[in-house]
Amino acid sequence: MDLAALESQLRTLQGDAASRITACTDLTALDELGSSLLGKRGAITDVLRGIGELPPADRPKIGATANEVRAAIESLLTARRSVVAVEELALRITAETIDPTAPAPRPRSGSLHPIPETIRAIAEIMSSFGFSIVETREVEDDVVNFQLLNIPEDHPSRDLWDTLYLREPGRLLRTHTSPGQIHVMRTTPPPIRVILPGRCFRYEAVDASHGFEFHQVEGLLVDTTTTLSDLKGILSELARGLFGAATETRFRPGYYPFTEPSVAVDVRWAGSKEGWMTILGAGMVHPTVLANGGIDPETHQGFAFGLGVERIAMLRHGIPDLRAFLENDTRFLRSMR
Ligand code: PHE
Repeated sequence: MDLAALESQLRTLQGDAASRITACTDLTALDELGSSLLGKRGAITDVLRGIGELPPADRPKIGATANEVRAAIESLLTARRSVVAVEELALRITAETIDPTAPAPRPRSGSLHPIPETIRAIAEIMSSFGFSIVETREVEDDVVNFQLLNIPEDHPSRDLWDTLYLREPGRLLRTHTSPGQIHVMRTTPPPIRVILPGRCFRYEAVDASHGFEFHQVEGLLVDTTTTLSDLKGILSELARGLFGAATETRFRPGYYPFTEPSVAVDVRWAGSKEGWMTILGAGMVHPTVLANGGIDPETHQGFAFGLGVERIAMLRHGIPDLRAFLENDTRFLRSMR
């Protein structure tokens, strides 16, 4: 092996490389080709293995030629890379045709949680009777939640409400929306027609039909000629609006300290849970409660009702377990659409 032979090997290699590089049409193949020529185990390194057989004076010469060849191949590779990149892009652009007239993909629409959905349904029906919506506070005073509603301290009827008391004396989480009646009567001159939807709290063990956190819609109507038949008429319509025009209702005597007389309202239920289902409590506002609200019971009467939103939503949507309302499982929420 002499200098001339090695040099001609390198020049042949350069010539071969040039034609292979030009023939190459994709970037990955070009990279592979690059390392098979210039890499540690590449063709140039292979040729230079013969350098040991040369006389020492010739060695730098072959080194210089090798560097030239290496540089020439590198610049060929770089030039070819940019050509191939442009070609690949052009190919992709022709392959991926875009139809600008195609309709845009529709955004996935959400749906209301069944609790607000039910509250809205109730609000819509009641607003057709002239009721407007008012929201009052969730943290109440014992005075408003109980005492002004004719439930004195130590009265046995307090057992109807398992109350969550706050550390601050006299403060509690409202056990029902009825204290809202007091707030409304004290701020609104009659005639009054309002519904008060909102969250309530009771100290309960949670199971399929009990929660410590639930929703009610209170209703209050105060006027000068209000009677129990107004209550019956409007609440029957509410039941028909919620459950269908053929819905039968039943009014049973009930007891609440803040209404007199008091009634429990049932709807007849077909299907798996056939029979009468209680959906709300109601009654004529107790004269003491009217007076506590600043309204003269000699000139005004009213009726009030309170219904459990979860119960209504369960009946309307056939939901068997109350806990589904709080879990926020999107599969459950999507099934409500
Ligand atoms: N506040 C009562 C309850 O939570 C329901 C009710 C409201 C009854 C208004 C009569 C009148 O059980």
